[in-house]
Amino acid sequence: MVHKGTASRVMAGSRSLLCPARLSLRLLVVYGLIFITITFSFGFKMHMKQYLPVALSVLPALASPTPASQGTATQTTDDDFKVYTISAENITAKFIPYGARLTSLLVPDRSGNLQDVVVGYDDPKEYLHDTETNHTFFGAVVGRYANRIKNGTFEIGTKEYHIPENENGGIDTLHGGTVGYDQRNWTVTASSKSTVTFSLLDSGFEDFPGDVITHATFSVDADRSPENPNGLPRLTTKLVSLALTEKTPIMLANHIYWNLNAFKEETILNDTFLQLPLSQRYVATDGILIPNGTISDVAQSNHGVMDFTSGKLVGQDLQYSEGVCGTGCIGYDNCFIVDRPPAVAAPDSMASVVKMNSSTTGIALEVMTNQQALQIYACNGQNGTIPVKESQVKRNDGGAKYVNKHGCLVIETEGWIDGINNPQWGQLPYQEFSPESEPAVNWATYTFSTIP
Ligand SMILES: *[C@@H]1O[C@H](CO)[C@@H](O)[C@H](O)[C@H]1NC(C)=O
Ligand SMILES: *[C@@H]1O[C@H](CO)[C@@H](O)[C@H](O)[C@H]1NC(C)=O
Ligand SMILES: *[C@@H]1O[C@H](CO)[C@@H](O)[C@H](O)[C@H]1NC(C)=O
Ligand SMILES: *[C@@H]1O[C@H](CO)[C@@H](O)[C@H](O)[C@H]1NC(C)=O
Ligand SMILES: *[C@@H]1O[C@H](CO)[C@@H](O)[C@H](O)[C@H]1NC(C)=O
Ligand SMILES: *[C@@H]1O[C@H](CO)[C@@H](O)[C@H](O)[C@H]1NC(C)=O
Ligand SMILES: *[C@@H]1O[C@H](CO)[C@@H](O)[C@H](O)[C@H]1NC(C)=O
Ligand SMILES: *[C@@H]1O[C@H](CO)[C@@H](O)[C@H](O)[C@H]1NC(C)=O
Repeated sequence: MVHKGTASRVMAGSRSLLCPARLSLRLLVVYGLIFITITFSFGFKMHMKQYLPVALSVLPALASPTPASQGTATQTTDDDFKVYTISAENITAKFIPYGARLTSLLVPDRSGNLQDVVVGYDDPKEYLHDTETNHTFFGAVVGRYANRIKNGTFEIGTKEYHIPENENGGIDTLHGGTVGYDQRNWTVTASSKSTVTFSLLDSGFEDFPGDVITHATFSVDADRSPENPNGLPRLTTKLVSLALTEKTPIMLANHIYWNLNAFKEETILNDTFLQLPLSQRYVATDGILIPNGTISDVAQSNHGVMDFTSGKLVGQDLQYSEGVCGTGCIGYDNCFIVDRPPAVAAPDSMASVVKMNSSTTGIALEVMTNQQALQIYACNGQNGTIPVKESQVKRNDGGAKYVNKHGCLVIETEGWIDGINNPQWGQLPYQEFSPESEPAVNWATYTFSTIP
């Protein structure tokens, strides 16, 4: 099950963190085997409750840095930017440990030519530079708590916590604080031809309560199954986090910037159809995108600008969006609530929440998730200063050379924004976890097809 190459890569990736090396590495490989066997052979969901907490709880002991290596845990190494490529029929994805980040995703367009449908950089080291400058979070896993936290404060029980405020000049927290999971160098704990698992032990980072261990498993497949009857190319992401020592907020998300026209157009406004079939409600926000407590109906929004329930071009109603994405903003940066039909679906079941397609390339994407909401960001803040990957430009005859305003769309499957500060919404069971609770599981699938 674990290939020879896999084992040696596991060893190379984790050597600096593990001690004593031989014993820990053997255990780690065994652990990886158990983890993969459980999640992929028997089905993740069915067995998760029984197996996962046990399996997960073994890892911290394996991954804890020893006192000797602790001081050097943040040093620069090439391993952090090593590219892990996974592939299956008609889908190839590349990742790096820095931010457990998706850097490229190739799928065929309607003519059968491969297109890269995610935004990023060809040179992995550019992601570090990006963090220091534009800080786009391109392709990363964000956490410990994705999206915004009002005032950087929250309560667990009667205790108030205060975490670093890294946005708007220090009045709120975005994506986990000053050094979020996007800047962490995750350890590769398992990999194969079609899967890679990144693990991160968060030992009270950014003043969040207690320790949390996360395994981010990415896999690709094109297997025929009841959920994928046509054997379409598909990316699956499972972000599994366990609170180890204290009750804490946990809300991870993928921060992938999509562009289904692969930059053959200057923006995505005129060629990209977007449907959010289960999102009849969204979380209203103030001028700096902090929830103001009101839950709004998309049908009541100005000219239905927020209504994607039956699908429309992303740009169709853009002109009416002023104010919905913050003061002076035109575009989208909103938390769309996912309401599963109660009669047919459990509140945390996998549901189809996004359908998107590009008339330019013919590439279509369907997103399914177990999460309670979607943050949709239409790249309102991009401004044509970051160059499009050269590898993408080379595939195009014309098109965009820079990542323009509205030149992409971020889809974050996650919980309701700042649900921890709005207990009246009833979202705490999905956002607070403790050593006694189940793990937090953010599960999503991205399935690709083409339209005529
Ligand atoms: C991750 O690695 C990069 C490069 O090796 C380094 O610059 C950065 O500080 C590391 N991140 C953290 C949070 O230690
Ligand atoms: C892969 O994509 C090509 C080009 O679109 C298509 O002809 C082929 O049928 C696909 N393979 C499978 C197994 O679907
Ligand atoms: C953003 O990235 C571009 C391209 O790398 C760079 O020219 C620009 O200086 C960056 N912005 C900031 C604020 O540094
Ligand atoms: C583009 O965005 C970057 C990063 O936010 C900013 O530093 C830069 O000044 C902007 N450039 C223009 C021309 O607006
Ligand atoms: C905002 O955070 C500060 C600590 O920085 C805290 O003293 C204050 O009570 C918080 N305000 C609210 C409204 O939560
Ligand atoms: C999109 O269409 C509108 C109106 O049809 C047009 O004004 C605009 O220039 C187009 N934008 C792009 C990027 O093609
Ligand atoms: C929150 O913002 C929305 C949209 O701007 C507005 O309709 C609503 O009245 C606001 N709610 C509160 C409590 O201020
Ligand atoms: C593209 O997606 C939209 C929204 O889901 C859908 O209405 C439309 O039919 C799709 N286009 C094609 C050609 O399938």
